Amino acid sequence: MSAQIIDGKNISDAIREEMRQEVDQLKSKGVTPGLVVILVGEDPASQVYVNNKAKACEQLGYYSEVVRLPAETSQQALLDLIDKYNRSDVIHGILVQLPLPKHIEEKAVIDAISVEKDVDGFHPVSVGNLMIGDDALLPCTPSGVIELLKRTGNSPAGKHAVVIGRSNIVGKPVSMLLLRENATVTMCHSRTPNLPEMARQADILVVAVGVAKLVKKEWVKEGAVVIDVGMNRLPDGKLCGDVDYDDVLDTAGWITPVPRGVGPMTITMLMANTLKSAKRANG
Ligand code: GUN
Repeated sequence: MSAQIIDGKNISDAIREEMRQEVDQLKSKGVTPGLVVILVGEDPASQVYVNNKAKACEQLGYYSEVVRLPAETSQQALLDLIDKYNRSDVIHGILVQLPLPKHIEEKAVIDAISVEKDVDGFHPVSVGNLMIGDDALLPCTPSGVIELLKRTGNSPAGKHAVVIGRSNIVGKPVSMLLLRENATVTMCHSRTPNLPEMARQADILVVAVGVAKLVKKEWVKEGAVVIDVGMNRLPDGKLCGDVDYDDVLDTAGWITPVPRGVGPMTITMLMANTLKSAKRANG
């Protein structure tokens, strides 16, 4: 039987609709959620992401600023700008689009963002709070994955979740969130022997490695939930995930397509974090 499709676009729209009421409530108290997105350089993919973030702010009635800086911007100038927004009353979320030009140290930039405004959830204190289980601003793509699971009735509790990929942005935090949701979690990566066999143990398989169509049907247990975080561009220009969607479709029980799977959730969770931060800052 063909897998049920997890439509990230529909779920994302539903969450944004729910948020709209909260935004209106906050605005009636004179508070408008505010996000600044800072882009250094002209990476084409980053330009698209930044524009989409600004568009989402506009749709939800947020205040937003997009700061586009030349690639030669010094690290100190960027840190000074972050400091300015750390002290701003109208900005509740600060996002510096990654990757940064090579002469700028990513860690110094992430560390400079106030934890309260760290809507990416990349600051070491946010990461620590995530590990401990405190109420942190959670990284957007991983929390989007958890929302997709919960809203399709695929609660991770008691399930065996296998995560392929160990990046700081997706693999590690999504593993922690799945653990927090009471899954038993196996973390796999490029040095894991027998990846297909490990993957086949999963009730929930999350793939975030950046290798087009890596996961084939032999990697998937009958009826498993397959969450594809990959976003790869094929030579013909088409987008595809880390999962060979057509190959896996008849084996999986549930599957996220690419596009319209995890992707739309990332920006929605960014909007949710900005709202949460605005609410916290105003009591
Ligand atoms: N570049 C690609 N994904 C992300 C993200 O989630 N946050 C930031 N800041 N940069 C990115």
